[in-house]
Amino acid sequence: MRHFIHLVDFTTSELANLLDLAAKLKADLLRGLRPALLPGKVLGLIFEKPSLRTRVSFEAAMAQVGGSSIFLSSTDGPIDARESIPDQARTLSQFVDALVLRTFAHKTIEEFAEFASVPVINGLSDYNHPCQALADVLTIQEAFGDLHGRTVTFVGDGNNVARSLAIACGRFGMNFILAAPKDYGFPDQFLATFRENFDGKTPVHITNPAEAVSSADVIYTDVWTSMGQEAESKARTEAFQGFQVDETLMAKAAPHAKFLHCLPAHRGEEVSAGVADGPQSLIFAQAGNRMHAQKAILVSLLGGKI
Ligand code: CP
Ligand code: NVA
Repeated sequence: MRHFIHLVDFTTSELANLLDLAAKLKADLLRGLRPALLPGKVLGLIFEKPSLRTRVSFEAAMAQVGGSSIFLSSTDGPIDARESIPDQARTLSQFVDALVLRTFAHKTIEEFAEFASVPVINGLSDYNHPCQALADVLTIQEAFGDLHGRTVTFVGDGNNVARSLAIACGRFGMNFILAAPKDYGFPDQFLATFRENFDGKTPVHITNPAEAVSSADVIYTDVWTSMGQEAESKARTEAFQGFQVDETLMAKAAPHAKFLHCLPAHRGEEVSAGVADGPQSLIFAQAGNRMHAQKAILVSLLGGKI
């Protein structure tokens, strides 16, 4: 049994197989085929934070493969307020075939995985967002074909989304550049993990966005204030002045460059409306790919017959 918590737990070939499966399942769906690959399987979702894409894409994916899902919102209080995590994990494992968790602390997901006897999938933690990164790579592959040697520049906070994207880029031979203010780069613990996995290499951090996007095939951004950081919002808004992905910044990259955003987007803050809704933007195809990528993860972890 495997969990899907951190992309470094997967080899390039395992991730490539997931991408191939996602592309196949997407093509099937577009032809009107919804093969019941996981009949009767039940997915549990426990979310400490709000979600539009992650929740609905997982639930839709399960429905399309003949399974079902049960959503447990934990936004009213701590996930372990009523019952310990080990007890919840062992109990829920009696009922469901896999669990998706969206949490504040990353260790909450790891603790669930330690005690669950079913696969645990990371639907975002404060540390990372691997399902997002798999969908992002699928989107880049659709746009460019070959991934190797492409350059992805993430303009914004060195946050959960950026961390998983950096690992995904490393696995697929893409260059990753973080364009962030000095104090908003990657934390040391993540840099150590990155170096361990990529022969001692460190992701490039550039504080000048124009310089950082000049070689980009993909320009990516995310909110400046992630869920749980609301108290820092004012300081972050000030620190990220000059980091908006707008038409002027996009023009510093080659004309073939694409724009990605995990969403939700704040037009007028990290991205201009003109870029988010402009001709280089792939944001809704990217959102759609969440479902195809996650369906591949579910079918793979639950041994669906393809
Ligand atoms: N991108 C993403 O994870 O969206 P949600 O927060 O709506 O799930
Ligand atoms: N970095 C954002 C991503 C939301 C999908 C957050 O954690 O709020």
